[in-house]
Amino acid sequence: MAVPFVQGWDLVQTLGEGAYGEVRLLVNRQTEEAVAVKVVDTARATDCPENIKKEVCVNKMLSHKSIVRFYGHRREGSVHYLFLEYCSGGELFDRIEPDVGMPEMEAQKFFQQLIAGVEYLHSIGITHRDIKPENLLLDEGDNLKISDFGLATVFRHRDKERLLMKMCGTLPYVAPELLAGSGFRAEPVDIWSCGIVLTAMLAGELPWDQPSESCQEYADWLQKKTFLTPWKKIDAAPLSLLTRVLQHKPEKRLTIPDIRKDRWYTKVLKGVKRARVTSGESPSSLSKQIRSDMDLSPLSSLRSSDDRVKFSSSQPEPLPVLSSWDPSPPCFNAMVQQISFSQPACPEHMLLSSQLIGTPGSSQSPWQRLVRRMTRFFTKLDANRSYASLKDVCEKMGYTWKKSCTNQVTVSTTDRRNNKLIFKVHLLEMEERILVDFRLSKGDGLEFKRHFLRIKCQLNDIISNQKVLLPVT
Ligand code: ADE
Repeated sequence: MAVPFVQGWDLVQTLGEGAYGEVRLLVNRQTEEAVAVKVVDTARATDCPENIKKEVCVNKMLSHKSIVRFYGHRREGSVHYLFLEYCSGGELFDRIEPDVGMPEMEAQKFFQQLIAGVEYLHSIGITHRDIKPENLLLDEGDNLKISDFGLATVFRHRDKERLLMKMCGTLPYVAPELLAGSGFRAEPVDIWSCGIVLTAMLAGELPWDQPSESCQEYADWLQKKTFLTPWKKIDAAPLSLLTRVLQHKPEKRLTIPDIRKDRWYTKVLKGVKRARVTSGESPSSLSKQIRSDMDLSPLSSLRSSDDRVKFSSSQPEPLPVLSSWDPSPPCFNAMVQQISFSQPACPEHMLLSSQLIGTPGSSQSPWQRLVRRMTRFFTKLDANRSYASLKDVCEKMGYTWKKSCTNQVTVSTTDRRNNKLIFKVHLLEMEERILVDFRLSKGDGLEFKRHFLRIKCQLNDIISNQKVLLPVT
């Protein structure tokens, strides 16, 4: 059921969890407007109060169509609430098929929007420092929005640029000069991570664990071995752009004005828009398009003393019911995204809908899109037998299985790059069926998707393909 949060607004569901805490969806009972609220408890999270203050401060400076809008901030003791534009299209990772990527035309559009957002940030002297697909959200019109300014900082003030020293970000996305340990310029580091995002969009994989010469894949890249994966999957024109964006030396790397002149970047691409699917569909169609709840490892091995330590959050806590809230700016209600739908604010309905609908971009109403997540399925069995089958499969597949509470399990393993992968599996009873819901806690999102599909495949016999008709809206 929806939970009242601020007066007139219901907390509908958790949109995401991370080191900071979590992001929840708020829906206005009367107007059905939606906003996302990021909840950070500085007493529990590793983020200190100074960090959240900085995040609020940076957010207040921002206004651009490729950046998640900030509506206001509220604090209740050690708990901070950041009210943000709700992006109903989910994460960019939704659109990346592991080992394949996405159509070039789509990748080009998202890359152009990403560059527009980063160009704006740099123009006002802000660097994001953690550009990766989990921090790139999509709105209802499939427009990319840069989100999460928890690591952002000012690198230029009154025309005076400062070098950065702090190593932060996410290893597969960080630029090589950041690992060198001395001062480095901010802009080329953000541009590098945009190049990694483009690689992930075009090849469905990350090129390396980290850009150091001890990493074989990076050494191969430095030797221009583009006949290897992921490069061999990428067309010559975007590969030429990537070659110059992923330049080892920051001073040789393309700048944003250079990128804007690139042949592929400016090319008018023609293509057929691919239909998108959800997990309610057959395993084969699911394997073509799966969603990530990716949260790649932070730079745990590289943290300096003042670095923010980021790790997956613990289980969601019930949110406090706030009696009143005076959001800033005052035109909050006018600014929030209006979602037009005629269904009641009932998350259970949304969950069911998300199982059934084929094309989020076209036939689904925004309401049905609210919980578009791919890493879940219904079973044909009751709760106990579903649990037993899942446990049996996971143990046979070599996963570490830990029951954390009545209907939740923590599953851990190491991925193909030997990195830790931890995810939570929740069994929920819904309209007399059992929904098995997987969420990534720690590790590489693409790997998470691969493991989810492997488990799902093993459970094929108990997965329900029965479709339920949607309530008429
Ligand atoms: N997850 C994190 N932030 C979000 C937002 N603003 N909208 C939708 N999902 C989110």
